[in-house]
Amino acid sequence: MATYSHIEVRPLAGALGAEVFGVDLRRALPQEVIAEIRRAHLEYLVIFFRDQHISDDELARFGRCFGELAPLPPHRQVPGKFPELLIIDKQPSDKLVFGWEWHSDTTHLEVPSLGSVLLGKIIPPVGGDTLFANQYLAYDTLSEGMKRALSTLRARHSNGRILMTLERDAVLPSGEAETQKYATAWAMHPVVRTHPETDRKALFVNEIHTERFDEMTYEESQPLLQFLYRHSTRPEFTCRFRWQEGSIAFWDNRCCQHLALNDYPGQRRLMHRVQIKGTRPV
Ligand code: SIN
Repeated sequence: MATYSHIEVRPLAGALGAEVFGVDLRRALPQEVIAEIRRAHLEYLVIFFRDQHISDDELARFGRCFGELAPLPPHRQVPGKFPELLIIDKQPSDKLVFGWEWHSDTTHLEVPSLGSVLLGKIIPPVGGDTLFANQYLAYDTLSEGMKRALSTLRARHSNGRILMTLERDAVLPSGEAETQKYATAWAMHPVVRTHPETDRKALFVNEIHTERFDEMTYEESQPLLQFLYRHSTRPEFTCRFRWQEGSIAFWDNRCCQHLALNDYPGQRRLMHRVQIKGTRPV
């Protein structure tokens, strides 16, 4: 376990996740503090901050400490706001919640995001937690035979399941073949990626985006994909974060997945997010 001299880091669970104390994001951070936050992010995969009642500009400034921000596609941008600001606003009458299944962000793009910084603005009194899962552990705990089998596989990721779910206003059974018809963006990625900073291998498929293996049919791919989805989110690979207003989660999309729990019907939950540009998975 690394030592930190400018911040306090308290692990949250055995698999991943730590809370970081001693940081005020209303002010620009000194380089030595940014370096330690970056180290904690690589060590714990997702880090959390409390009591950060910051503006959107301060959120963006924090995100930029770790790389260039990734703009949203035009249809998701909010008029009057900067193009990298994602607003996740679940209204009391909404049935669906953004990010309702395990995923890492934007893997339907050739260059998915490095990480996302999510700020809690309005939090329901009970519910609305976010779960995270360590994809290094998911890879490391596979058998040697399975690791070998996965080592040459690539998989197609798309936004089809998200778009189809929104259109039907209902969550679909996992592995629904029809999602392919709804896709407007897709990309092929290795099923196991090597993290560009830690050099560790991580499983890189997720239920919301991954459709099938390259050069295989949808039906041929499902049995192994469904196994990998179950395996990669085993409870012992996860942590769970209880939000408060002013809480921040900063996760690494290259080695962890997350899921927003939809367990607060009739309540509003408002979150603001920026995402940092990543690199092409290899
Ligand atoms: C997401 O980025 O998938 C949303 C997470 C959340 O709202 O908890």
